[in-house]
Amino acid sequence: PAPVITIDGPTASGKGTIAQKVAQALGWHVLDSGALYRLTALAVLREGGDGADEAQAARLARSLDIRFEPDAILMGGEDVSALIRQEEVGNLASRVAAWPAVREALLACQRAFRQAPGLVGDGRDMGTVVFPDAPLKIFLDADVEVRAQRRYKQLKDKGFSANLDDLLQDLRARDARDRGRAHAPLVAAADAVTVDSSHQGIDDVVRQVLDLWSA
Ligand code: CDP
Repeated sequence: PAPVITIDGPTASGKGTIAQKVAQALGWHVLDSGALYRLTALAVLREGGDGADEAQAARLARSLDIRFEPDAILMGGEDVSALIRQEEVGNLASRVAAWPAVREALLACQRAFRQAPGLVGDGRDMGTVVFPDAPLKIFLDADVEVRAQRRYKQLKDKGFSANLDDLLQDLRARDARDRGRAHAPLVAAADAVTVDSSHQGIDDVVRQVLDLWSA
């Protein structure tokens, strides 16, 4: 099978950006697995749901009609890439992601991204559940205050309103839910290399990952 580099970690640790840059440097594919949970959450919201119904969320996860394009994520032909970045959707994503049937429904779709010449997968359980045989696993962490600042800037840059204190609270709640859930909790794989990005820029982390890969 094609090689995979997994990058797992808590919310707003910089996984997405780093995964993209590493993939770009290697000429590999990239899987933003969080987007699949966000798309499921958006589908639930649009049916008037609140994530409490496992069967509903799993049914929607199974029937997602999505396409990843270089600059857009299409659901049913509609570009929802900006919509799914809203905190409301992210928070609901973390709720639907706790349902085993939802995670099961998205498994095959995630594994289908593993294609030559290679894949960089970003998420919570890439190294533990989805690609346990990956030859390089990164666990990317950062202090929660630093992550809240980064998420704040990211939302502002996208034109969304944001409040730093609310964000900090949301991030803590999301961390607790992702780490505490019974099924596929956020945890570093036993063979993962932990990288703390609190005091490192994106490019330093990217270089570190590329060095680990070529080592
Ligand atoms: O950008 P951020 O890190 O906040 O979120 P994301 O990576 O887009 O993922 C949104 C939510 O989906 C997370 O809070 C997780 O609960 C869930 N998720 C997951 O359970 N497993 C994954 N592989 C990816 C995301």
